[in-house]
Amino acid sequence: MRVIRSLVLLLACVWTAAGAWAQTAGSTTRWDALLVVFDQPTPRPGVRSIEVHRQGDGTLSGTLTSDWYGAMAMSNLVADEGELRFDVRNINVPGVPTRRWRATSTAAGLLLEGGVWDSEVKQVGRPATPAEVAALRPAEVPLPPLRKVAPDGLAATPPMGWSSWNAFAERIDDRKVRAMADAMVATGLRDAGYVYINIDDGWQGTRGPDGALRPNAKFPDMAALAAYVHGKGLKLGLYSSPGLKTCAGYVGSYGHVEQDARTFAGWGIDYLKYDLCSGEWQYADAERVQRAYYQMGAALKATGRPIVFSLCEYGRFDVAAWGRDVGGHLWRTTGDITDDYARMSDIGFERNPKFGHAGPGGWNDPDMLEVGNGGMSPDEYRTHTTLWAMSAAPLIMGHDLRATTPAALALLSNRAVLAVDQDRLGRQGRAVRRDGNGEVWTRPLADGSFAVALFNRGPVGAQITIRPLDVGLTRFAVIRDLWADRTVAASARAFAVPAHGARLLRIRGR
Ligand code: GLA
Repeated sequence: MRVIRSLVLLLACVWTAAGAWAQTAGSTTRWDALLVVFDQPTPRPGVRSIEVHRQGDGTLSGTLTSDWYGAMAMSNLVADEGELRFDVRNINVPGVPTRRWRATSTAAGLLLEGGVWDSEVKQVGRPATPAEVAALRPAEVPLPPLRKVAPDGLAATPPMGWSSWNAFAERIDDRKVRAMADAMVATGLRDAGYVYINIDDGWQGTRGPDGALRPNAKFPDMAALAAYVHGKGLKLGLYSSPGLKTCAGYVGSYGHVEQDARTFAGWGIDYLKYDLCSGEWQYADAERVQRAYYQMGAALKATGRPIVFSLCEYGRFDVAAWGRDVGGHLWRTTGDITDDYARMSDIGFERNPKFGHAGPGGWNDPDMLEVGNGGMSPDEYRTHTTLWAMSAAPLIMGHDLRATTPAALALLSNRAVLAVDQDRLGRQGRAVRRDGNGEVWTRPLADGSFAVALFNRGPVGAQITIRPLDVGLTRFAVIRDLWADRTVAASARAFAVPAHGARLLRIRGR
């Protein structure tokens, strides 16, 4: 008996040294036939299972299955001393293309430790059957080949409306959306041109047995909500993602793209923001991102309902160059705006201007407005509005419309400023001159006049000078100060601009 036990122990040591299996207090892990599920994974990326096999050539290969990213392949697997170590691809961290993970045999079960991007994983799993692990694997869904979506005449000027995200994030429900539609009308903002009421992330529930996406309990009847919004002379927008999960962790359209497009159209939706989110993992190169957006663009078109398609992939892979071709009417050029001057001005002055191609039917989107949310001074919000109007940017408000202050209303509903944003020529303005903290931006308008914006990015007031040559003229005939709503002398050249402030002129030449 003793001889047999010694033999078994000896064999175990040999196997352990070879990295095939390891023994720890109370549990035995065979690294070359590992099947473990995690009943309580960390929320992101939500690793549900780990499986490792020995391949024909003797090497180990393995996969993690996660709620966010589906199958995550392991590489460089090394098994020894009760521990398996491996690499997993990483995202969004320059210079860190992979992360090293490890799985350790413990008395409580298999301890898995690793991370992707900004989420860390530390969780314990239990041995599972092949059937249990297989059931957790999401089906790999191929993308369609890339084709072009024909132009449809929507968004001839940049879309105007409101979105729930900046003010409310996930704190949204049917009642609040109806209240926003009411406030859009009561404030006069609808009549100023803001027509979209967009529900951002957080409306989704689960899929039904037929695979159809259903709203969560906060949105009992999406079609009725759309009818209510339409009854106010407004349009309704929704939000989804090409990935398995949206950015806030709700179910995405992965594997259900055409079905979701039909569901949205059936509810009477007029606008879809399609946010890359967890799709960053699956669609990690230009070709796959384009195909993923094309798939939804084509699916929306196939519904026959006119639906504005808002691409949100943060400006990756030169999106402005192909956004229209995949059916997009606007495309985000940056990461998220926040309600502060530093971020707003970095997006508006530095990032968004790098993108060309804007014009009728397709617009560079530097993200939603923060006007009315309180994080910037009145002059900074004036800069925000002026910069977006000069950029032919979509004007999607992001504050609680019920609490619109007179100051915010004045900024958001100035008809002369909105006319610059909505000018039918659709040419995006640009900086023609930078002088210290001062910037002069110009934008040619359809009637032959020019919008000229003077920005002071510095912390103290300054004089900023304009020249007829800034817009290719020899002299000015009429200068209208749009925020002040008055005509100034055609000979005026130097304008006082407050710290972080802006002036906006509409100029005719001779
Ligand atoms: C991303 C987008 C935001 C918003 C959130 C919702 O961060 O860029 O505009 O839609 O997701 O989760």
